[in-house]
Amino acid sequence: MTTPSLSTKRRVSKKASSFTESVIREMTREALKHGAVNLSQGFPDFAAPEDIKRRAMEAIEADVNQYAITWGAKDFRDAIAKKTAWYLGLEIDPETEITVTCGSTEGMISAMMATVDPGDEVIVFEPFYENYAPDAILSDARPRYVPLRAPDWSFDPDELRSAFNEKTKAIIVCNPNNPTGKVFTRWEMQFIAGLCQEFDALCFTDEIYEHILYPGEGVETSHISMAQINGMRERTVIVNSMSKTYSVTGWRVGYCIAPPEITSGIRKVHDFLTVGAAAPLQAAGAYALSLPAEYYERLKQDYQMRRDRLLPVLEQAGFKTFVPDGAYYIMTDIANFGFGNDVDFTRHLIRDIGVACVPGSSFYSVPERGAQQVRFCFCKKDETLSLAEERLSKLQQRVI
Ligand SMILES: Cc1ncc(COP(=O)(O)O)c(C=O)c1O
Repeated sequence: MTTPSLSTKRRVSKKASSFTESVIREMTREALKHGAVNLSQGFPDFAAPEDIKRRAMEAIEADVNQYAITWGAKDFRDAIAKKTAWYLGLEIDPETEITVTCGSTEGMISAMMATVDPGDEVIVFEPFYENYAPDAILSDARPRYVPLRAPDWSFDPDELRSAFNEKTKAIIVCNPNNPTGKVFTRWEMQFIAGLCQEFDALCFTDEIYEHILYPGEGVETSHISMAQINGMRERTVIVNSMSKTYSVTGWRVGYCIAPPEITSGIRKVHDFLTVGAAAPLQAAGAYALSLPAEYYERLKQDYQMRRDRLLPVLEQAGFKTFVPDGAYYIMTDIANFGFGNDVDFTRHLIRDIGVACVPGSSFYSVPERGAQQVRFCFCKKDETLSLAEERLSKLQQRVI
């Protein structure tokens, strides 16, 4: 009997072969390589709050350096429950309904792996935060995409209804939304909730931008969580994180809030994926999540100023912008520049102009759908935005 040569076997699994590396993270590497102003990946280039950093340093000093309880340190879970009661008006049991994860990234994949069986369908609004497609592959879910259409990124209720069927296990709702900046209206949330109940589906809500919304005409004045909608508490997994709210994307501390049965599934997946999130940073998290309302008010105002700073810069440079009502990204249309696709345009912008953005195609299941869009982020210092402004003024419009 001959031993099969190694080359006849796959070295990389079918699952891992079926998605690419993150385009968003790749753009950051490209920006570094070419010295471009990085308006691609959504992380602040300004300091995290001093008092939150100090709490992390104090925790290390005090030897909070070993594994925390796998589903989260008690004081951090207590702080999450207290903040959720204050902000969303939801009573959460920290002993049975919270799992602390390594960022919301791990929260989402753990929630999906804990609930989805092979062949189950998961509905995803498109354009979508790029992680959701690999999340679906890794958890054996079959994604069904439902378009959000510019300029207001609304969905067609009939189209959404027809995406639901007996195989639908869940829908992912990212609200406020990355990449579009859409804030779902109460009516839209209730419509989605109605379908979840009719088809006995779960809802995974990515609420990482819950504090970053810009109330205006036709925009909800406060954040709505799916778990607040009648009948949804028992079928919603809230996925959240410290990353955006406290400007600590590198800490990798997030959490899932879900009913006890689902939480016990999430906790098991989480335990064997990562054991737990960084213990001293959870200690700092317990402090951060206890900050007063003024902290969140200031955060919102700061981001509104940055949004209003970048919007006219992009418009003057020739982009058609879709004004975001939440989160810290601006989706744009690049038709004025006469490029065949978003990837060629992004390469030009990074290498020749010196500003990095994310090609729109990375937010779509079919690249052509995003071929005339790119996304900019504005969670940046004023001087970073000024440098981007200076460089973008050199961009030539080719189509008048
Ligand atoms: C919608 C959305 N979800 C999740 C993440 C990742 O968050 P975390 O740092 O908590 O893993 C991001 C980061 O940009 C995001 O925009």
